[in-house]
Amino acid sequence: MLVDHLPRLSLGFLPTPIHPLPGLSRALMGPDLWIKRDDQTGLGAGGNKVRKLELLIAEAMAQGADTVLTAGAPQSNHARQTAAAAARNGLACLLALRGKAPEVVTGNLLLDHLFGADVRWAGDRPFPEMLAELAEEVSGRGGKPYIIPYGGSNELGTAAFAEAMVELLQQSREASVEFDRVLFASSSGGTHAGLLLGAHALGYRGQIVGISVDKTETGLHDVILRLMTRTARLLRLDSVPPEREVLLDNRCLGAGYAIMGEPEREAILMMASTEGILLDPVYTGRALAGLVSMVRNEEIGKGEKLLFWHTGGMPALFAYNRQLMA
Ligand SMILES: Cc1ncc(COP(=O)(O)O)c(C=O)c1O
Repeated sequence: MLVDHLPRLSLGFLPTPIHPLPGLSRALMGPDLWIKRDDQTGLGAGGNKVRKLELLIAEAMAQGADTVLTAGAPQSNHARQTAAAAARNGLACLLALRGKAPEVVTGNLLLDHLFGADVRWAGDRPFPEMLAELAEEVSGRGGKPYIIPYGGSNELGTAAFAEAMVELLQQSREASVEFDRVLFASSSGGTHAGLLLGAHALGYRGQIVGISVDKTETGLHDVILRLMTRTARLLRLDSVPPEREVLLDNRCLGAGYAIMGEPEREAILMMASTEGILLDPVYTGRALAGLVSMVRNEEIGKGEKLLFWHTGGMPALFAYNRQLMA
């Protein structure tokens, strides 16, 4: 265990299962595909952020906070899982969401409300500024705020994913399967930085490959390096992976963040129709679209064993019903 010395709550159903994807492997006529089911972490409809929140909410409670604040897109999975984690622990939750209130409240936003979150619309204001202002509002009425950064990607969120690598390597030993590559959606960088740092600390020899969903390669690349350095300190690790091991694929950005195109639609339908597993239009659909194009370009070889890390996001499907049915 890498995080034994940190306060941690048990919020998720962990370990999440790994299993082969025979139908998808057949459909792609390429690698031997497996999946890790972080869509099944349980709390609040699941997803990768539940792992991060086990450490983040533990710190909030250790500091005596009564309100957690975070920010995201209107269909943010991170915001929804934060709202659920707050509800579960008897904390209030304030969410700053990009833009203005939509006419139809659906998908993750609907769930934010069910979990009792207080949703505030940020327009195009910078999130750090808006969160600081909301924190003052909480303090002003005698409360104790705890700010969770965008995507839950600070040292604690990253540490949770280093620990997730301990979990994966244990499962891969038990299943007697060695993965050549682990592939997933990368956005605020914590998942990527944590998996890569964990892989380095544990001597995993395969590749850790992030499919970038909303950033230029350089920007996110630097964020991941910074997160690994800071988290290594927190976890008392004496080295970080070399920069060349930060593998980020930015060829799948399409028309931009959260704009679903044909590759994402095809990937969602392919996973649903071959495996009965749901992806989302923003993150996992784009990550699988990246995988599919790498198989078609023969960048992923036939005999390769590849693990697709499902990071959740299914509730956002309902906000894309028209495009999905087109
Ligand atoms: C479904 C899903 N997958 C992947 C990610 C990316 O994780 P990270 O922000 O740690 O890069 C997110 C982040 O919001 C997400 O909601």
